[in-house]
Amino acid sequence: MGSALGFRTLCDNPLHHNIQWERLHMTAQLIDGKALARSMEAKLAERIRALPRKPVLAVLLVGEDPASRVYVRNKVLACERTGIESRSVHLPETATEEDVIRQVRAWNEDPTVDGILVQLPLPRGIDAQRVIETVALEKDVDGFHVGSAGALVTGREGFRPCTPSGVMEMLESIGYELRGKHALVIGRSNIVGKPMAMMLLEKDATVTVAHSRTPNTKELALAADVIVAAAGRADLVTADMVKPGAVVIDVGMNRRPDGRLCGDVADDVRDAAGWLTPVPGGVGPMTIAMLLVNTVRSAEMRLLAQ
Ligand code: GUN
Repeated sequence: MGSALGFRTLCDNPLHHNIQWERLHMTAQLIDGKALARSMEAKLAERIRALPRKPVLAVLLVGEDPASRVYVRNKVLACERTGIESRSVHLPETATEEDVIRQVRAWNEDPTVDGILVQLPLPRGIDAQRVIETVALEKDVDGFHVGSAGALVTGREGFRPCTPSGVMEMLESIGYELRGKHALVIGRSNIVGKPMAMMLLEKDATVTVAHSRTPNTKELALAADVIVAAAGRADLVTADMVKPGAVVIDVGMNRRPDGRLCGDVADDVRDAAGWLTPVPGGVGPMTIAMLLVNTVRSAEMRLLAQ
């Protein structure tokens, strides 16, 4: 007997506890994050043209972390494509917490700045959470402020973190109905895992969060209709952990020893998942698109408020 999601039951008795599954080959459809991001940028460009001035995103990079430099460059390029003005400040590795906070406060008080982004991680010795709490709530386009996090948890309006927002857009783009589905989030960071779980819950999914101390991640993954892998470990999710037909979202951004970029999801998951996000070209461009969305929204609230 065939089942909807590519399983074939070898035992058809539903009361039998020891149902065995025989895997059928599947080839996942890819969710093209880059294309979706570009189409969102085009819509944003229209909204920007209706504003009396360009939205302004202030970006602070501290130190020389090579990955952070690439992320910041990509954010600045996306601003240019869309018609957002970016103002970048790069402080040296030796900058103090007070130097960083002084820059953030200057932007808080500048009425021409709509969004403030402090690229993480910050150099050792700087309390990132204290810096984040310094960002004015109404300019917190990263959605990392405790006020933004509180708004998300309680279902109020506020800026939402860009990566999980981008994932939700990707699920919507394939018309995926989350209500009643089992979603597994692997990873519990403040930036991705925790807000991701909240957003999935808001859409009526049943949500489980697995992390480095979870003993039965494979078992939880096999029961999941949606897996969001956000632990930062290459090959964390393998085909034998994926229910055939499941949606697998790869938030990972890792480098293999040979320098190749890869996510948290192993290549063979293509043969098990129904939908899969590529790395690169999946969640990454969507994260940036959502940052632009938050920045434009912030500008609209500032400029179009009667
Ligand atoms: N570092 C890794 N991801 C992010 C992000 O989304 N925003 C910022 N500011 N820093 C990050």
